[in-house]
Amino acid sequence: MTFNKPDKVICNDDVFKPFISQGRIEQRIAEIGEEIDEKFKDKKPIFIGVLNGAFIFMADLMRHVTIPCEADFLKLSSYGDAKVSSGQVTQRKGIDAKIDSRHVILVEDIVDTGLSMKYLVDNLMQKNPASVSTVTLLHKKEATRHDVQLDFVGFEIPDRFVLGYGLDYAQEGRNLAQIYILDED
Ligand code: IMP
Ligand code: MG
Repeated sequence: MTFNKPDKVICNDDVFKPFISQGRIEQRIAEIGEEIDEKFKDKKPIFIGVLNGAFIFMADLMRHVTIPCEADFLKLSSYGDAKVSSGQVTQRKGIDAKIDSRHVILVEDIVDTGLSMKYLVDNLMQKNPASVSTVTLLHKKEATRHDVQLDFVGFEIPDRFVLGYGLDYAQEGRNLAQIYILDED
């Protein structure tokens, strides 16, 4: 299998350079998978992935989880095609699963301002789950303004635009096998 991970990426006229390698991503996800196994033993959690960005991370994460579990997805849109958050969250698709009395694990690709994660946790809490935990592959800690509890974080990253491994720039770049960062030079 050939993975898509060039040394330089040009996406919508911006230049990106490699930032987090496929190997580091894989290793960190394996560690989080073990922690989830431990924390949710006998709880049959349901993973809820936030589309579109989380689809690759969630696919890899779930294959490192060995306890019984389920999956569903919802879809949000907050960025439009820009590199900065619009400050608005729109829900475009809801979950089908009943989460009443269930242990929910909300899966995000990245937490930036924290607006999306806060909106989702508040929303899911209204459906009377047994618990809501959160996992994000990336966290821009300096940019986070909303009060969100992050239970599992893959990598803390600087407040810079990143691409690949599910994350897009105006819908492009999701198929890159590692994470790239905007080259400001
Ligand atoms: P927040 O609501 O400001 O935390 O933004 C969260 C959403 O914005 C994420 O789920 C991503 O879809 C998107 N996002 C934030 N930062 C980046 C980035 O650096 N690259 C691509 N998408 C991003
Ligand atoms: Mg997203």
